[in-house]
Amino acid sequence: MSQRDSGYERIGFDAYETPEWVTSALVPFVRGRIIPRQTIIHEPAAGSGRMVAALRRCGFFVTATDIMNGDDFLLATENYPAIITNPPYSHATVFIEHALALTKPVGGIVAMLLRADFDSAQTRNHLFNDCPAFSQKIVLLRRIKWFEKSEGQPSFNHAWYIWDHEHKGPPTLRYAK
Ligand SMILES: C[S@@+](CC[C@H](N)C(=O)[O-])C[C@H]1O[C@@H](n2cnc3c(N)ncnc32)[C@H](O)[C@@H]1O
Repeated sequence: MSQRDSGYERIGFDAYETPEWVTSALVPFVRGRIIPRQTIIHEPAAGSGRMVAALRRCGFFVTATDIMNGDDFLLATENYPAIITNPPYSHATVFIEHALALTKPVGGIVAMLLRADFDSAQTRNHLFNDCPAFSQKIVLLRRIKWFEKSEGQPSFNHAWYIWDHEHKGPPTLRYAK
């Protein structure tokens, strides 16, 4: 989401691909809850599969769908133990709401890559301050360069946000490089 380097316009379906280091940065924070070669992670907005490949390289089982292949995640009804994605910016709130609904019956976990100030809006309070499952915010200390050949500097900071239906207590703030 929000993957606009300076000088770039938005692209169709918000199809920005996540560099591998960004996905790798998440892994230490979910390892206790997502077991390699055991828990199945679903990537519901997989695009060309960059995030899927990075997760598989870390040893996880991953299933993947995308609207470009005819699978609208917002119509999905299957329950998942783990959902991880970089959602389309224009539908990020509803993506999170739907991912929380699909993981709740199985006590699952959701991780979404979002702008670092995404949790600041009062209209999203139900996903953060008022959401008992919100468990971690992991701020990335490096800015994401969405286009390798881009000459502009990245405009935004990003963070991983994690919701865990088994979480108890307040969320924790962490940092990752
Ligand atoms: C920001 S890209 C992320 C791609 C991939 N997750 C990654 O991180 O490299 C967002 C993706 O969401 C997909 N998308 C947009 N709306 C969708 C929907 N309703 N259901 C499923 N995928 C959708 C787009 O086709 C695009 O591939």
